[in-house]
Amino acid sequence: MLEIINLSYRAQDDNQDKEILDNINLKFEDNYTYVITGPNGSGKSTLAKLVMGILPASSGKILFNGMNITSLPINERAKLGISYAFQTPVTFKGLKIRDLIDVACGQKKSFDQICEILSKVGLCAKDYINRPLDDKLSGGELKRIEIALALCQEAKLNIFDEPEAGIDLWSFDNLIDIFNSLKNSTNIIVSHQKRILHISDYIILLKNGQIEKFGKKEEVVPLLEKRQCARLVRSK
Ligand SMILES: Nc1ncnc2c1ncn2[C@@H]1O[C@H](COP(=O)(O)OP(=O)(O)O)[C@@H](O)[C@H]1O
Ligand SMILES: [Mg+2]
Repeated sequence: MLEIINLSYRAQDDNQDKEILDNINLKFEDNYTYVITGPNGSGKSTLAKLVMGILPASSGKILFNGMNITSLPINERAKLGISYAFQTPVTFKGLKIRDLIDVACGQKKSFDQICEILSKVGLCAKDYINRPLDDKLSGGELKRIEIALALCQEAKLNIFDEPEAGIDLWSFDNLIDIFNSLKNSTNIIVSHQKRILHISDYIILLKNGQIEKFGKKEEVVPLLEKRQCARLVRSK
């Protein structure tokens, strides 16, 4: 469904070219859940943004269902069935949550339908429907609304960048239920969370802009756990 071929991203840092992603090759199959993990700054968000077209590739190719989408803008990729939820949600001055839900769903939704959409992320429609999506909402509220907006697009490929960030423990169970219910789409979740790693099918471990390991969860989780133990022993 998604194929990434020799993908690189370079940016200017202190007037020097910095290789942020270096020759990435990956293949994603239909209806599996992939978690991208790795240390801070390893390039996880950059990879997610390149797939959505939020950042332009410096070189390489991205194929979506066989179609070369490398130079397509975000809205064209969205039309093809790719959705994206930011690590730090974007706010829109003046637009109400109900308007954004209508835009994301591609049609006007009734109060009951909006209620159903928002309840998936643990929010009550009557408290939120007429609120603007601005910085008066807490980080956790913004994050939940953004996840709801991504879900109602019913995309073939969902990308979530650190969906757990800012979400309290009660809604974390909800979040896991949401990911478990996404069976008819391919899901790419950038995360450090053990519980999210455990609901994945495959894990991509990034390090310094390269793939250190790509494999089935059963293969990669023990490796990550062993490393964490080694770190704990060293820090004693
Ligand atoms: N436009 C940019 N210019 C320079 N460096 C950048 C730019 N964008 C990202 N970086 C750097 O690239 C690295 C990877 O960033 P990012 O993909 O956000 O990491 P992650 O999501 O894994 O924490 C970081 O070191 C970050 O500082
Ligand atoms: Mg990130």
